[in-house]
Amino acid sequence: MNDTLGSWKRSHYCGSVTADQLGQDVCVMGWVQRRRDHGGLIFIDLRDREGVLQLALDPDRDPAAHQKAEAVRNEFVVAVIGKVSPRPDGTVNPKMKTGEVEIEVRELKILNRSETPPFMLDEFTDVAENIRLKYRYLDLRRASVQSCLMLRHRVTRTVRAYLDENGFLDIETPVLTKSTPEGARDYLVPSRVNNGQFYALPQSPQLFKQLLMISGYDRYAQIVKCFRDEDLRADRQPEFTQIDCEMSFVDREDVMTIMEGMIARVFKETRAIELSLPMRRMTYAEALDKYGVDNPDLRFDLELVEITALVKSCGFKVFAEVAAGGGMVKALNVKGGAGFSRKELDEFTAFAAIYGAKGLAWVKMTAEGWQSPIAKFFKPEELSALEKALQAEEGDLLLFVADSAKVANESLGRLRQHLGQKLGLASKEKYSFSWVTDFPMLEWDEEEKRHVAVHHPFTAPLDEDVALLETDPGKARAKAYDLVLNGSEIGGGSIRIHDQAIQQKIFSLLGIGEEEAQEKFGFLLDALSYGAPPHGGIAFGLDRLTMILAGTDSIRDVIAFPKTQKATCLLSEAPGVVAEKQLQELGIRLRKPVNQGKRE
Ligand code: AMO
Ligand code: AMP
Repeated sequence: MNDTLGSWKRSHYCGSVTADQLGQDVCVMGWVQRRRDHGGLIFIDLRDREGVLQLALDPDRDPAAHQKAEAVRNEFVVAVIGKVSPRPDGTVNPKMKTGEVEIEVRELKILNRSETPPFMLDEFTDVAENIRLKYRYLDLRRASVQSCLMLRHRVTRTVRAYLDENGFLDIETPVLTKSTPEGARDYLVPSRVNNGQFYALPQSPQLFKQLLMISGYDRYAQIVKCFRDEDLRADRQPEFTQIDCEMSFVDREDVMTIMEGMIARVFKETRAIELSLPMRRMTYAEALDKYGVDNPDLRFDLELVEITALVKSCGFKVFAEVAAGGGMVKALNVKGGAGFSRKELDEFTAFAAIYGAKGLAWVKMTAEGWQSPIAKFFKPEELSALEKALQAEEGDLLLFVADSAKVANESLGRLRQHLGQKLGLASKEKYSFSWVTDFPMLEWDEEEKRHVAVHHPFTAPLDEDVALLETDPGKARAKAYDLVLNGSEIGGGSIRIHDQAIQQKIFSLLGIGEEEAQEKFGFLLDALSYGAPPHGGIAFGLDRLTMILAGTDSIRDVIAFPKTQKATCLLSEAPGVVAEKQLQELGIRLRKPVNQGKRE
């Protein structure tokens, strides 16, 4: 039988008892982290969310409590009453908040017992992630995991306070809704009442927040779950949380200014880091030119250099042909990188190949000049022109990709990021922000053979590019902006189209016919005709932001109950099969019978 609380009231968290309470009686409750028997004396490390406290049980002083303590095992839930005493000389632990004290226990209750946990709940044992996720409720007891969730709480608390101070109204938007295109597949929910019809879970509250602006709410913000059925990566979850904001009568600068203020406040209050404002702003074109990607890691320089013009008529056919054929040749000078081995160069080549590069030419700058398989193709004056363009010096490694602009930029840009990590240039202590602006409105989708929106279809074009929508839509730039932190896109938004005719024009450029536009977005088009104010907004990925603040590499570390890369929950075993009766009610028959219990 377990003891009951009875009249006992907790006086302190374990982790908050310090020398300030010396001599006082306290009542603490928590989980047994460890029990040590010192032939007579028993020590228990008792843990709660605030920390660990040492309990001391002396058989001579309190025989009854001591006897009970003999039955205590790891993860038992225990309550004690006792006096806060100084630890004996030589046993003080300066690393612990409670390390100067221990509790001389007078009374002990065992409130609940525990099976032996499937893994050690300390910070030192490396446990496979699938085991941690299956027993997430145990994993969540660990201090490092708890500190991530507490950090997340401090982030949302700060965000809410800032947004409230700045006049944003917190308004909830529906979860059972219609599809909002944000570029991923929808999660669908079948309707029982309307058989054969489906809701879509929101990929974002985009359309609703725009409607709220049309309704005159002026400033809206919500910390909100979004759902996207897309390929998962280390920084993506199928359900994730946005800090979603929208404002009326604003331009891009207004949105960026108020939002960087919010991010600065978060850094200050959660990590005591002062960011300097305003944050850097860079156009999409500049980001691609210098860093090859639209989310550059700016903790280090390592800029790409375009050398297409320099190699147009060189003797290395690969370069000359790409340059003559409208492609791009780009280079990266890895300062001091001449020491990389052949094996490492092969690894870089394989890395660039992931992004489509057909090869990776390299040059080691040595005392004897170019050491490179392609050196023989260049005349001396070509070599020196390239050296000058790349500011190459002895000891450097030059890397080249010749391809379409897209492949040259992306492969070398990603390789730059990879090298930054490898060379230790991407310090975890550094936070480098930049807004990236002037994205293209549209990009060509090879698979679908049509234009798709780079941000989303509700993003306004730059005023000076509106005419391009008629003549050369692929060149039109958008009033869109992303906030990039250490190479990660933590937020993105835009000024919206508030003119119905332009919205219709964009739908037609995207190959969405009038009928389809009416069927999918008729309510938005209608609303735009009833006095829509100029408006714009942004959404931040709360999980990604917290992940960077926490200094972890996995988004799962900052989510209490995350999903795996396969979008499953190992704890609850979702998704699961449902009863035939439920399917019948929904009017659904499965095309393939499900193998019960089988999971990939
Ligand atoms: P966007 O699609 O850029 O914009 O999303 C905004 C931010 O949400 C985060 N994010 C994700 N985080 C974790 N897992 C995912 N699967 C995931 N997908 C996106 C990113 C991203 O920057 N409605 C627009 C915003 C607007 O225009 O106001 C939108 O959703 O950090
Ligand atoms: P090859 O003459 O094909 O042996 O190539 C000589 C070097 O050029 C090798 O290091 C290749 O990796 C590199 N190379 C081949 N194609 C490209 C390309 N499109 N861009 C950059 N380097 C390339």
